[in-house]
Amino acid sequence: MKDKVSLVIDGLEVTTEVGKTVLEAALENGIYIPHLCYHPDLEPAGVCRLCIVEIEGRGLTISCKTPVEEGMVVRTTGPEVEEVRRIALELLIVNHHADCLSCPKNTQCKLQEVANYIGIDEERFERLRKPERTLPLDTSNPFFLYDPNKCVLCGICVRTCDELQGVNAIDFAFRGFSTVVSAFAGRPLAESICESCGECVVRCPVGALIPKNFQQPSREVKTVCPYCGCGCGIYLGIRGNTIVSVRGDRENPVNKGALCVKGRFGYDFVGHPDRLTAPLIKKDGKFVEASWDEALDFVAGRLSRYRGDEFAAISSAKCTNEENYLVQKFARAVMGSNHIDHCARLCHAPSVAGLAQSFGSGAMTNSIDEIAYANCIFAIGTNTTAAHPIIGLRIKKAVRRGAKLIVANPREIHLCRHAYIWLQHRPGTDVALLMGMMRVIVEEGLHDTAFIEERCENFEAFRRSLEGFDLDFVERTTGVPREKIVQAARVYATDKPSTILYSMGITQHTHGTDNVLAVSNLALLTGNVGKPSTGVNPLRGQNNVQGACDMGALPNVFPGYQRVDDPDARRKFEAAWGCELNGSPGLTHMEIFDAIYEGRIKALYLIGENPMLSEANASHVEEAIEKLEFFVAQDIFLSETARLADVV
Ligand code: SF4
Ligand code: SF4
Ligand code: SF4
Ligand code: FES
Repeated sequence: MKDKVSLVIDGLEVTTEVGKTVLEAALENGIYIPHLCYHPDLEPAGVCRLCIVEIEGRGLTISCKTPVEEGMVVRTTGPEVEEVRRIALELLIVNHHADCLSCPKNTQCKLQEVANYIGIDEERFERLRKPERTLPLDTSNPFFLYDPNKCVLCGICVRTCDELQGVNAIDFAFRGFSTVVSAFAGRPLAESICESCGECVVRCPVGALIPKNFQQPSREVKTVCPYCGCGCGIYLGIRGNTIVSVRGDRENPVNKGALCVKGRFGYDFVGHPDRLTAPLIKKDGKFVEASWDEALDFVAGRLSRYRGDEFAAISSAKCTNEENYLVQKFARAVMGSNHIDHCARLCHAPSVAGLAQSFGSGAMTNSIDEIAYANCIFAIGTNTTAAHPIIGLRIKKAVRRGAKLIVANPREIHLCRHAYIWLQHRPGTDVALLMGMMRVIVEEGLHDTAFIEERCENFEAFRRSLEGFDLDFVERTTGVPREKIVQAARVYATDKPSTILYSMGITQHTHGTDNVLAVSNLALLTGNVGKPSTGVNPLRGQNNVQGACDMGALPNVFPGYQRVDDPDARRKFEAAWGCELNGSPGLTHMEIFDAIYEGRIKALYLIGENPMLSEANASHVEEAIEKLEFFVAQDIFLSETARLADVV
């Protein structure tokens, strides 16, 4: 079948892909056709009528909804075309506020662009002009406002919220002249289910949806969102020395331009007045500002009193790879200690241990992009739309495509609205639920025998381990009706490719590693590993959990997961770093605080972490820190933990 077609637009022969519209073919070949309600990310709606063209043999038609055909002859201008466009434009513009100069969208407004192209007859326009609408603005959302007086009812925001976000927070309300975009029952946006992602705002072609306190940036800096493990690409808009905007990087393979509320609007911490601007040294119980030279000399002098196991460092998954590499190298090569760990211990250490045991590597087995193409998504222990919103979009995209979503979560999270099956198991019963599903799969012969024979070990022992998990027991233990367990097992095993997503609902348990092993076994049992859109995918909490682990900010491994007690690995790093290294695995995050409490560790360097908030037992952390001889905290704010330090 041909995948290209040729057509003639305004006398020029152009070639484009089958399935494109006439408008898209024209725009990609540099031929402008006025348009307002078209957006390349959305299904065409055909409401503004501005994109009208003449097609030979058919007459006038809107180009945004007309697919290209071989040999088609299109004219984008002509008396009839221009007359229809002029009327369509006038109908839009007579009701529109004419305060362009004070509008934040001035010079970037699609309505201005169209009006400039078509041309406005001022006299006729004044005659047509109705009294200006003075509808109240919806300013309830903390980040953006809606001005119905500027809204051209193109529906791009409504379709964005539906087609891309799957939220459906807004729609058209009222009729005719009174039509506006509104949340359900005319409630203010802040009282609706709107998630404040701002995706509608970035697509609004006019000044109707506008960020509050909008300022045009004078330059942009490409970087990565500082929040969750999705790792969305962003451009920071800078004016002077201040961040005034954020936009998603459309070239980034993870977010493809989309952002959630955190990434798009959560940047005010950067310029927050509470940011620390100078080093602090505690003197007589009070922090005193110091110069960098004074602080660095003081820290170096005090740390030189400690060597080996008397010293510990805690690094951070919010720091870059380079920073994590340096912290672990400092602990090992300078201080002679393997007591180096970071917050992954509190979130995904079971993933590192469990996945390394099952697959040889503690990372996602598949890429984020593949999620949208799975036929079954099993989301267990993850509130994805809240914690990893951009991955949540991939799930919703898959569901819209027809994929079946199984949600296993004790809480009725947002994803349940999109789920084919919701397994509401009791907290802490993940292993029982997963073993119950696997028993159904084995009993019904739905396991992938060829894959197991070729790729797995100890299947018979595994089969025997299922014996204790009959449906009576699993139903009683988990609280999930047996029919649902059977249904979920069948869907996961047969609607391939099936992918598993999990997060801290799986790992943050005393038996987190067992949970991870059970999740891995489910994928292996059904051959859902090593193929596109399958696998076992831990969704990481902070933005660089993976990198901090890869860089060796862990007590038992050098960078690249090379064990510190492996003499060959140690020799390699000794040669590279030019020093002798400690061959005993160090202590973990929690063990470090136990050792401090017991007086075995006397000096601590903490970077970018706040264990007074993140540790389960904050009192224990506080009591331990009080026993330290020397404590340095490196942070951008005076956090609860940094307050206890000798130097910040
Ligand atoms: S901000 Fe996001 S969730 Fe809210 S209305 Fe716009 S697209 Fe929908
Ligand atoms: S608010 Fe903007 S995007 Fe939504 S209908 Fe009005 S003009 Fe279109
Ligand atoms: S999904 Fe995560 S990485 Fe992406 S914008 Fe939101 S917080 Fe940032
Ligand atoms: S762009 Fe085609 S009808 Fe609006």
